[in-house]
Order: sequence, then structure tokens, then C-alpha cells
Amino acid sequence: MKKCIIAALALSLVCCLCSCGSDSSTPQKIVVRSENAVSETKSVKQSEESSQASRKAEESYKTISETSQQSEESSESSEESSEQSEESSESSSESSEQSEENSESSQESSEQSEESSESSEESSEQSEESSESSEQSEESSEVSEEESSEDEESQESDENSSDEENETVSSDGIYYIDGAAYIDGIIIVNKTYSLPEDYGNGEDPEALSAFYEMQNDAYSDNIYLEIISGFRSYETQYYTYNSFVYDRGTELADRVSARPGHSEHQTGLAFDINTTANYFADTPEAAWLAEHCAEYGFIIRYPKDKEYVTGYAYEPWHIRYIGREKAKIITQSGLTLEEYYGLTSYYS
Ligand code: DAL
Ligand code: ZN
Repeated sequence: MKKCIIAALALSLVCCLCSCGSDSSTPQKIVVRSENAVSETKSVKQSEESSQASRKAEESYKTISETSQQSEESSESSEESSEQSEESSESSSESSEQSEENSESSQESSEQSEESSESSEESSEQSEESSESSEQSEESSEVSEEESSEDEESQESDENSSDEENETVSSDGIYYIDGAAYIDGIIIVNKTYSLPEDYGNGEDPEALSAFYEMQNDAYSDNIYLEIISGFRSYETQYYTYNSFVYDRGTELADRVSARPGHSEHQTGLAFDINTTANYFADTPEAAWLAEHCAEYGFIIRYPKDKEYVTGYAYEPWHIRYIGREKAKIITQSGLTLEEYYGLTSYYS
């Protein structure tokens, strides 16, 4: 179509040029020779003019052709632009759709965010409620603990009341708990004060722990200490004492062995260390024990030259647990337990 238009334009231009030539460029025959010369000269000029017009027409045609080609290129460019525009339009459409989807997604996200926010608020409220519940629980727990503590105090009070009911405090400060004599919180067992037959069931844990600590420290000083006799029941003590009676008689037995119910071993607080042979008194172990046992709550219960007070001959191996504080005080005093508390020790 475009080519047709261009061709038509070119054709009309040629026709126009031809029409002009018929009027002015067609040579006319001159009969007169001189006139012919002039006339030929005119004809040459006309022919030259005609030729120039023809070149102009060609240039014009070329210009039109170039214009046409430019137009075609422009058209092609326009088509490409149009296609690009269409693609752009499609892309724009897709972008628009995506935008709409994004918008919808954004809305959904926004709704979810709002829901999340609401959920978060609910969670926060629940958390606060939980926190309040926890605080209430803690308060309840504290109240419960206070009540429990009060109950324990009440029970302790009842136990003390029970102990007090069993206690008979004499003028010398002795009182009894479950048939055992006490003074200043210390259970007293000697020839004067005895224990029920069923009293005791093993070593006292606190005393045993103190011994092991002492044993460990002594070992650091190259001193080896061991318990060769700890808790002894009433029955065991019966056989032990009577063995001495059988071998040495009652008078000698009573100087070295307690009658059943009168031995500190039945309390679980007394231990014989290493040996009960008399040579022990001259060993480094006996010296270490005498020097350090009070640091662990023990006293040498039957010191040398105190038989008239304690009722027993010297036993450097027999230690008795009374607690660190009292052990240190009594040991430093140089007194026996009987002397310190003004107690007697003899069989009635
Ligand atoms: N050897 C001590 C006195 C006791 O038999 O308990
Ligand atoms: Zn002993």
C-alpha cells in the first residue's frame, strides 16, 4: 500500500514534468538557416533546462524514496514500538494482576497481621492472667508454706510438750527423755545413770561423720585411726561384761567394763579406737587423739587418774561425742564430764 502511494506520487510527478516539457522544451524546426542556428541554440538551452528539470525530478523521486524508506522504517519502528507497547501493555497487565494479587496478598497479610496482633493481645492477656495466676499460686504456696511452717512449729511444740511430759528435771539439772538421763542437752550414761534395755539401734550419724572427718585429718598426719567397737546393744554389753567377770571377777570387771544398760556404747555416741590394750596409751595415735579429738566433738571419756570420779580405769581409746563446742570447753577445763556437771558415777 505504501509502495503504491509512493509509486503514484512519482508517476504524477513525471507526468507533471512531461506536461511542462510539451509546452516549453519540445524543439521547433526552423526553416531559415540563421534562424535555425538561433533556434538550435534555444533548443539546446531548452533541452538543458529539460535535463535539469529531469534531474530535479529524479532527486525529488530519490527524496521521496528516501522519505518513503524512512517512513517504512518509521513504520516498522512504529510496529516494533507497537509490539513493544503491546508487550509492555501485557506486562503492565500482568504487573497489574500481580499488583492486584499482591494487594490481595497484602490485604490477607494485613488481616493475618491483625489476627496475629489480636492473637498476640489474647496471648498477652492470657500471659498476664497466667502471671496473675502464678502470683496467686505463689501467694497460695507461701500461705501454704506458712501454714505448713505453723503446723511444723505446732508439731514441734507438741513434741516438746511430749518431751516435757516425759521429763523429770531434778535439782542437779538431770532430766529424762525416753528413759535416758540428760543434762545440758547431753545424754548421760555411767554407773549412776543407765539406759532402758531396748534403747539404741546403731551409731549416731553425726558422731560417725565427725569421726570420719577426724580419721581423714589424722591420716594426713600419718596417724591411722579406726573404730574397733562402736554401738553395742544391751544384750552385747551383757555378754561383754560377764566375760570380764568370768575371767577377772566382778571387782576387776567393774573397773574396765560397764554392766549392761550402763555402757555409753549403747547410745551409739562412743567408739573404741584401734585397741583396748593398755599399751595404746603410749602410741602416737593416743597422743594425737588426746590432742585433737575435741576439735571434732569428742572427749576422752575416762582420763588417767580419774577413776574415782568416772568409775572406770584410764581408757585412752574410748572417745565420746558431745559436740564440738562442749567438747572443747570441757577438754580445756581439764575436768571429766562428771566433774564438769557435778554428777556421780557409782552403782547403787
Ligand atoms: N569400757 C567402758 C567403760 C564400757 O564398757 O562402756
Ligand atoms: Zn569403750
